[in-house]
Amino acid sequence: MTEKSALGVGLLGLGVIGSHVAARLLDPTTANAFGRPVELRRVLVRRLDAPRSVALPDGVLTDDFTDVLEDDGIDIVIEAMGGEHPALDHLTQLLSRGVSVVTANKEVVAKHGPALMAAARSSGARLRYEASVGGGIPIIGPLQDDLLANDISSVRAIINGTTNYILTKMSQEGLAFGDALRQAQELGYAEPDPANDIEGRDAVYKLAILASLAFHTTVTPDEVHCEGITALEADDFQYAHELGYEIKLLAIAQRIDGAVQARVHPALLHRETMLAKVEGPFNAVEVEGDLVGPVVFHGRGAGPAPTASAIIGDLLALARGEDSAPGVQMGQRGPLPVRPMRELETQYYLRISAADQPGVLAQIARAFGDHTISLASVIQKDADDRAGTADLVITTHPAREAAMQAALEDLKGLSVLTAVHNLLRVEAA
Ligand SMILES: NC(=O)c1ccc[n+]([C@@H]2O[C@H](COP(=O)([O-])OP(=O)(O)OC[C@H]3O[C@@H](n4cnc5c(N)ncnc54)[C@H](OP(=O)(O)O)[C@@H]3O)[C@@H](O)[C@H]2O)c1
Repeated sequence: MTEKSALGVGLLGLGVIGSHVAARLLDPTTANAFGRPVELRRVLVRRLDAPRSVALPDGVLTDDFTDVLEDDGIDIVIEAMGGEHPALDHLTQLLSRGVSVVTANKEVVAKHGPALMAAARSSGARLRYEASVGGGIPIIGPLQDDLLANDISSVRAIINGTTNYILTKMSQEGLAFGDALRQAQELGYAEPDPANDIEGRDAVYKLAILASLAFHTTVTPDEVHCEGITALEADDFQYAHELGYEIKLLAIAQRIDGAVQARVHPALLHRETMLAKVEGPFNAVEVEGDLVGPVVFHGRGAGPAPTASAIIGDLLALARGEDSAPGVQMGQRGPLPVRPMRELETQYYLRISAADQPGVLAQIARAFGDHTISLASVIQKDADDRAGTADLVITTHPAREAAMQAALEDLKGLSVLTAVHNLLRVEAA
């Protein structure tokens, strides 16, 4: 029996993810899964002299991308460097040359997925990106193939582990946002610069990818409405609990009347729903298909080991040379109309402070009534006797976003209103 030739692998990036992937590929038992030896031939980094947690064979590390590009012994390249540039340029060059690529880079896939797919198609290369959404949770593969028989109407997800960790701490321990963020940073769940996570952009990239695949269309990050979690306060969690809800950063994409609506924002979720129970750094994606009904994918949405699981799974699929392309690919079909946020219809939670005096509630109710918004409950919370104000927590029946925003503007014009703390959407079960 002749021994199979080695699979030549190139790796871009040797950071948190790349190091874990490299260590696994260098483990001799990995060859068993591939049915042939795996040779890690080149690893691209920025700093050749930085300390590394994994020992590479001599001559493998490089800071010159052409060493990877021009190595004819490399069959597949894994991109784990992150960021838009130069990753986009590197991937484009590789795919155009016919080299298949596995990437974990949600930003590049969300912004340039269709162009990269076109480059791959024209050269016969393949691009896989399971690790770009939900870390180790298999979700790209199921949307591309396993759920293909379904007409998918919605995707609802918790796809940012950093924010879910912060929100879990705020919910369970009553922490302020800043304290929960600091804890997340100390434990390595949040980056030193957490802006992409806490402002919702990371989740936007991931939702754009999921929505594009679920609805067989192209949803760009610019088309996703985005609000982060920085304005949430401990009081919101306390009041949400009293009303029977949890607060989560949700990424929701729906197909409504032939259009797509995609949004990332904090929302109240009934505490008995599955997504409300997703805690800490875990992620979950709920897909609603016409045949299968609701399916929930739950697991570790980040971290080196789960992400390596997705990356090496993609590598295995490419190495097996599965000739059937995925059933759905980003950019395969044209865009659908985007349904604007003002047309959203949902329930709302509003927390305000107002003068603690007779007639105030009537003025507030009128501001809602003028926009045909019907109130579900008005609860007066803590009163500040010295300031003469009280906190009011208001929930509405389903209303249009445009009407709600107009009512909010009218409320802000009332002299009795002293503060608008938070307007949150209530997601139906
Ligand atoms: N961390 C997670 O839990 C997670 C989960 C899912 C997906 N991802 C994705 O995986 C990717 C990598 O994330 P990470 O956390 O491993 O990042 P990281 O720790 O910052 O590592 C990035 C690596 O890429 C190298 N690199 C960056 N820019 C480069 C350039 N211009 N030229 C050459 N090398 C360059 C760095 O080199 P030096 O070491 O020399 O600086 C480093 O080795 C990102 O796309 C991320 O979104 C991460």
